Amino acid sequence: MHNETRRCKATFPEMRTAMKISIVISAAFMILTAACSQKQNEISVEMNPAIEVLKTRRSIRAYEERMPEKVLIDQVVEAGTYAPTGMGKQSPIIVAITDKTVRDRLSKLNADIAGTESDPFYGAPVVLVVLADRNCPTYIYDGSLVMGNLLNAAHAAGLGSCWIHRAKEVFDTEEGKDLLRQWGIDGDYEGIGNCILGYSAQETPTPAPRKSNYVYHVD
Ligand SMILES: Cc1cc2nc3c(=O)[nH]c(=O)nc-3n(C[C@H](O)[C@H](O)[C@H](O)COP(=O)(O)O)c2cc1C
Repeated sequence: MHNETRRCKATFPEMRTAMKISIVISAAFMILTAACSQKQNEISVEMNPAIEVLKTRRSIRAYEERMPEKVLIDQVVEAGTYAPTGMGKQSPIIVAITDKTVRDRLSKLNADIAGTESDPFYGAPVVLVVLADRNCPTYIYDGSLVMGNLLNAAHAAGLGSCWIHRAKEVFDTEEGKDLLRQWGIDGDYEGIGNCILGYSAQETPTPAPRKSNYVYHVD
């Protein structure tokens, strides 16, 4: 009995020491794991190429004359067709214009509406006109998302782009409607936007700082 008591007294401090060591090791392990997972998150966000494209795309307002390769134009246009649309109705259409005479005519129509003499397409050789079917309740949203896809895909493909407005006004004119008919497009289509496309002839602009109240978190 005496011996047993002595044995217990002798092992108890050792057990306490062992427990302390194991708590310290567990805590260190948890801190290390948390730090590693935070670092991993940082890395995956920083290096995500799609997110990088979204963040680094800028509106380009000076272009080289040379026509981008057809394969690149097609790639951008195809990306546009994969934009989400209300109930998957695919209400928009894209008219890919590389013909200089048509491109210049559209530029003139757009400039007339803007009340300017200068080229609203900034010399870009390609214009991707997005129109959408007015009979679809979500047509403006659908067309705008197509525009977004085109702009971002252009950047991903190494091309410059910019949304040029007044497509609605242009295709509401008799001349605009006439163009649609010539292109074999009939239906109640409204112009959503013009995505100009080409090789950039300028330095990529620095984005404006994001406004402080852009995002509200409700956790
Ligand atoms: C609906 C809409 C219409 C726009 N219209 C024009 C336009 O007619 N001409 C132009 O130079 N840029 C136009 N832009 C481009 C914006 O000026 C540009 O996106 C904005 O200044 C932010 O710059 P960033 O695209 O480089 O981020 C338009 C953009 C949107 C979304």
